[in-house]
Amino acid sequence: MYQIKALTYRYQTEVFPAFDLTIESGEYLALMGENGSGKSTFLNLLAGFLTPATGEIWFEGKDLTKWQANTVQKKKFYSHLGILFQETDSQLFNSTVYDEIAFGPRQLQLAPEEVEQRVNDCLALLKLEPLKKRVPYQLSGGEKKKVAFASILAMNPAVYLLDEPFNGLTKETEKLFKQILKQLQQLGKTIILSSHDYVSIAHEADAVLLFTDPIKKYSTEEITADSTLYQQLINY
Ligand SMILES: Nc1ncnc2c1ncn2[C@@H]1O[C@H](COP(=O)(O)OP(=O)(O)OP(=O)(O)O)[C@@H](O)[C@H]1O
Ligand SMILES: [Mg+2]
Repeated sequence: MYQIKALTYRYQTEVFPAFDLTIESGEYLALMGENGSGKSTFLNLLAGFLTPATGEIWFEGKDLTKWQANTVQKKKFYSHLGILFQETDSQLFNSTVYDEIAFGPRQLQLAPEEVEQRVNDCLALLKLEPLKKRVPYQLSGGEKKKVAFASILAMNPAVYLLDEPFNGLTKETEKLFKQILKQLQQLGKTIILSSHDYVSIAHEADAVLLFTDPIKKYSTEEITADSTLYQQLINY
């Protein structure tokens, strides 16, 4: 799905050391590391919101710069992605929850009945029906996160880029999000999320990309077998 070659990014200084990585279609990958180690930056690079300082990101066999080269390609690229930001506020801009969830499917120019069907399914799935006429901006933090998640589910993307998706959720909502993500993976979707809580994601993800020097991917089996690594992860 993604191929990453010698990737780095710089704000004033380099955020993380250069690394190579392959993310297979259908993989469930967790990004972990200290605060400020570059997890959100990496998700923004995968989403094409930032451009690599050096190195390359390939998506579905094509360099991301090519996907970004013109409006048609760009639109196609974003139709594959569901992106959940760390600060949910920045992604809610419609005047009702219903319209917020309908926005993506409408952008995909689906038939109105299909849009309605998808919105209603997502409202039901995330138990958001009572909120459908509310203004997203005025919702609680957890409610906003549910709406943002519903709005990306409604687009049925192939890849989910989720920045700390479980933060601020009750255990029940977290469980619901996790169940949905597992089902999505079973449907062949690729899931890439950041987390600071290894215990919480140990039974969810197939592997962890650890933002240390060097940046390295570990399977959950490798982590279970290596007590030093396990201790390091549970201490974030
Ligand atoms: N717009 C920016 N301008 C300058 N520096 C930035 C900017 N955004 C992030 N950084 C810096 O880049 C580094 C990586 O930040 P990033 O947000 O990617 O980390 P993170 O691993 O997601 O952290 P957290 O666990 O706190 O969410 C940090 O040192 C941060 O201060
Ligand atoms: Mg972050």
